[in-house]
Amino acid sequence: MHRIVYVNGSYLPEEQGKISIFDRGFLFADGIYEVTAVVNGKLVDYGPHMERLERSLHEIRMDWPCSTEELKSMHEEMVKRNNLAEGWVYMQITRGVADRDFKFPKGVKPSLIAFTQAKKLVDNPDAVKGVSVITIPDIRWARRDIKTVNLLAPVLGKQAAYEAGAFEAWMIEGGKVTEGTSSNAYIVKAGKVVTRALSNTILAGCTRRSLFRLAKQHDIDIEERSFTPEEAYDADEAFLTSASNFVMPIVEIDGKRIGGGQPGPLTRKLREIFLEEIMI
Ligand code: PDD
Repeated sequence: MHRIVYVNGSYLPEEQGKISIFDRGFLFADGIYEVTAVVNGKLVDYGPHMERLERSLHEIRMDWPCSTEELKSMHEEMVKRNNLAEGWVYMQITRGVADRDFKFPKGVKPSLIAFTQAKKLVDNPDAVKGVSVITIPDIRWARRDIKTVNLLAPVLGKQAAYEAGAFEAWMIEGGKVTEGTSSNAYIVKAGKVVTRALSNTILAGCTRRSLFRLAKQHDIDIEERSFTPEEAYDADEAFLTSASNFVMPIVEIDGKRIGGGQPGPLTRKLREIFLEEIMI
């Protein structure tokens, strides 16, 4: 890998991209992040990602590390300098470098870093076959609406999925599915898409937001309500959304085949219309 990364105002070869051991992101997971997809060298849903970033910053009482114009040009510059045709830009803001003390440090500048990752998002073979998920208890904190870098529970969940031969884990709380470890969760029943309503229990996905807009344009009904794993086992179709997967069909949940083990027609249509829009 010979990427150019961004660290606090400088573009550097990745081996030179370094952050202090006193960074509060490292010591306390005191920071937030965004992952923005890139297709054909263009940022996907950039506006919604930055709106969510602003909200996350506000909720954890952190200032912007730079102007919104600077952040936009940093994203564009990262795509350009890395010749990134398809993949994503990861960016992270933490409360900066200070001696270890839980309360906010005074007069410290936030740390801002970014890097790119190349990945085939459009011609992704997983999306042709569909993927499997398992269910696990949701052991995360109570503010999942904030896109925090505190990702230990999702790391453990994704590892459990990997060890079970699955692509993702859907997390269960109070008998209902909240979301995936790094994606939002959906089922389709009788022609209607069902997904949990937004609250502090899940992250407001930017892909989810685009999906709602596109579904409306195409007269596809979405019902916002929680659903149980049993309802999911019995669903006609299931899928997940995220910036790194767009609309990903699910063909198996906890070892039970969904919709005959094939990506469902409504899911395929939603993926198609999502891709159509971003390919323009
Ligand atoms: N994860 N829910 C959770 C818990 C997530 O971490 C993500 C995204 C989503 C989907 O949000 P969006 O559509 O804005 O990507 C839902 C990113 C991709 C990640 O952590 O890599």
